[in-house]
Amino acid sequence: MSMDKIVALCKRRGFLFPSSEIYGGLNGFWDYGPLGVELKRNVKEAWWKDMVSGHDELTQIEGTPASFQMVGLDCSIIMHPQVWKCSGHYDLFHDYMVDCKESKKRYRHDQLRGRWLKAKEQSVFISSQTGGEEGLEETQTRALKFLGMRNKQVGDLEWESGMVSLLTVKDFSVVLAPDATQLGTLTEPREFNLMFKTFVGALAGEEGAAFLRPETAQGIFVNFKNVVDSTRVKTPFGIAQIGKSFRNEITPRNFTFRSREFEQMEIEFFCHPNQSQAWYKWWRDRRYQWYTNLGLSPERLILREHEPSELSHYSCGTADIEYAFPFLPQGEFGELEGIAHRADFDLRSHQEGKLVKDGETLIVENGADGKPRHKGSGKDLQYFDDRVRERYWPHVIEPSAGADRGTLAFLCEAYAEEPVEGGEVRTVMRFHPRIAPVKAAIFPLVNREGMPEKAKELYRSLKGDFGVQYDDGGAIGRRYRRQDEAGTPVCITIDGQTMTDNTVTWRDRDSLQQIRVPFGEIETRLRSLLKP
Ligand code: GAP
Repeated sequence: MSMDKIVALCKRRGFLFPSSEIYGGLNGFWDYGPLGVELKRNVKEAWWKDMVSGHDELTQIEGTPASFQMVGLDCSIIMHPQVWKCSGHYDLFHDYMVDCKESKKRYRHDQLRGRWLKAKEQSVFISSQTGGEEGLEETQTRALKFLGMRNKQVGDLEWESGMVSLLTVKDFSVVLAPDATQLGTLTEPREFNLMFKTFVGALAGEEGAAFLRPETAQGIFVNFKNVVDSTRVKTPFGIAQIGKSFRNEITPRNFTFRSREFEQMEIEFFCHPNQSQAWYKWWRDRRYQWYTNLGLSPERLILREHEPSELSHYSCGTADIEYAFPFLPQGEFGELEGIAHRADFDLRSHQEGKLVKDGETLIVENGADGKPRHKGSGKDLQYFDDRVRERYWPHVIEPSAGADRGTLAFLCEAYAEEPVEGGEVRTVMRFHPRIAPVKAAIFPLVNREGMPEKAKELYRSLKGDFGVQYDDGGAIGRRYRRQDEAGTPVCITIDGQTMTDNTVTWRDRDSLQQIRVPFGEIETRLRSLLKP
């Protein structure tokens, strides 16, 4: 499915708009429109219900070491700057960027790829920002242009390699940057911290400097003791949070996939170290299943275990749930969620000072003066289990999902075009009813003979409990098409027969089947559609 069509539908039907569009937009920022806001809220609400409020803490789920509790938090976006020093973000949360002196564009060093070409008695590196087949084509076109050759001479190009990363290139003087006409216009890679800096209060200097959070997770760690002391949670238990995070991405792209402001849905699950591997595996599989239950096809969704070289500084095991987004080359997948085994890195860092790996163990990182490089809070963040009188650092399993990336995957999965009677093509968004922005549309067949009154009565009786819409504009076929594009699972029409036998026409979005349903059954049927 083409991404352009999905983006066009999102704009046309009010799912997503570029932020501040009337001023030309702002790269990496997006606004959700009237349909988009409902869709994303439904994704977040489904997550919260399935992971937190609807979780049955009394029953042990098969395949888990124990029953467990789940509670929530809603922490501030700006936190004490020391949080980011101890979490590692201050020192380590950066990407390398390269600038093009000719085009003035900036790229992530690890995202540029290209091919070696024999040209004018030397090897040159023709780079591209695109991967897969499209990237190959792009390098071909650019190579022809660079050498002043015609399209039909493509067979004369002397390629010396397939697509490789710019990371493998040592000498930038032979690189043709993606938007340049000359060689050697890229600067050497430079570090760029992704945290947005701001200033708190009237102090404009470094004293007042703070950061917008780049993840919601740290709010949970620094409140660990507060939650343990103020509730009756016992390990194993999870703390969940949904909220905005900010990263000053060097190259935001692919619609909302890589934004600079986005929302995360994170769980920090605290358990005994002996059980942490079992919990890690269970959370990984459970989170994969959550997406398929809500409609993502297993053909487009993979669970990928990280190689040891890919692991973050704190992690001793991470798996990604990845989706085959249509903007990616065939066979490539983009991350929706990471499930990480963070061991005791965070709680210990916030108590003792920032930790580093020393072989297999974690030790406090010291500065040149022999003192901790980033001082911890000094507060006791260990857990005391009074049932067995044991004190320990809980290990943490972290399923960390992006609400915007999830919403984008559901949008891409839902989009379909199919032929209908009369040679027409209908565009339909096949959302799972739980996340569909509108649950049912209510139509009077015609605007007379008591039908509008009856339809409004039904609308008013459902509105309090369900996201229903009333539509009396235009021919019934056009109204159906409008709702198909919005992804509304059911259309309910009040027609002539309703006025005699009190039944309605119930039209199913996917099968296009129309059946008669008694007025009194409508609410129960809608409820059963929305069951997890
Ligand atoms: N606390 C761990 C953590 O933040 P992450 O892999 O950096 O891990 C988790 O982020 C999720 O947040 C990602 O899987 C993705 O869904 C989402 N995410 C991260 N950066 C994003 C961005 N720039 N735009 C949209 N979503 C993003």
